[in-house]
Amino acid sequence: MAKKDRKKGKADKPAKKAGKKATLASQADRHVLYEKSVQSPEDEIDLIRQFYANHRKVKPRVLREDFCGTATLTCEWIKANPKHRGIGVDFDREVLDWGRENNVGKLTAKQADRIELIEADVLKVETDPADILVAFNFSYWTFQTRERMLAYFRRALASLSDDGLMLLDFYGGPDAFTECVEKTKHEGFTYVWEQANYDPLSGSVDCFIHFHFPDRSKMEPAFSYRWRLWTLPELRDVIMEAGFSDITVYWEQADDEGEGTGEYEAVEKGEADPAWIVYVVAEP
Ligand SMILES: C[S@@+](CC[C@H](N)C(=O)[O-])C[C@H]1O[C@@H](n2cnc3c(N)ncnc32)[C@H](O)[C@@H]1O
Repeated sequence: MAKKDRKKGKADKPAKKAGKKATLASQADRHVLYEKSVQSPEDEIDLIRQFYANHRKVKPRVLREDFCGTATLTCEWIKANPKHRGIGVDFDREVLDWGRENNVGKLTAKQADRIELIEADVLKVETDPADILVAFNFSYWTFQTRERMLAYFRRALASLSDDGLMLLDFYGGPDAFTECVEKTKHEGFTYVWEQANYDPLSGSVDCFIHFHFPDRSKMEPAFSYRWRLWTLPELRDVIMEAGFSDITVYWEQADDEGEGTGEYEAVEKGEADPAWIVYVVAEP
């Protein structure tokens, strides 16, 4: 959802001429489809609470969501408990405005008083200390050099409260380091994840989210990101160098058929799966 994504590329434009039938793509809202495809804020709030309870005796109150986009998660945090406060940071005004109107706008006035959305670069922003600082959907992979990633984690560490923790998601496995197109069907549209132009020398990759519709119209791309595909050992080294004292990796548990259960357990050692997702808790 970076600024460049505001250009919808080849996405269908609204039909202007009288009589021309509007396509499903031209009538869809990319933020609504994004939320349906890649976000499950209620589950993530449950996980945040579980992880925090594993490391701290007190309950977290202030959540800061870096790269918050439309602030879906921060709004869910606010709804979960009247004592919660939320701070969302993103440098893209368009996504923040959408979040203000469509997500914050659905909160009660009292709930909305407990949320602050800040338009800023996460490398520069200064906020109240956070009990829990999250960077989800791998957004921090936007930092493509070790130097910039290190700078980010140093700033993140400085913005935590005394009992603060940082929580990240991370994906890996040999399937991650490829160019691919993966399609997932949803009611009324198909979500398409594409990784293109992967350069194994720098780790740089272009990632796209497209939406396809039953009338064959497309939003392509709806979102684009240039990331570096990091490995977990590289990231752990950067986090520790930034000054964090400990890292815990939570691995998703599998059922008898090998399907993920949505339950995560702290592990000392991973498995050689072709594709995996973990959560990483970093302690000051
Ligand atoms: C993949 S979206 C993530 C949205 C949300 N966090 C989620 O979990 O789905 C990435 C967001 O990061 C924002 N972003 C990228 N680099 C940033 C930076 N340096 N500072 C602030 N926001 C940034 C983009 O504007 C975009 O909204």
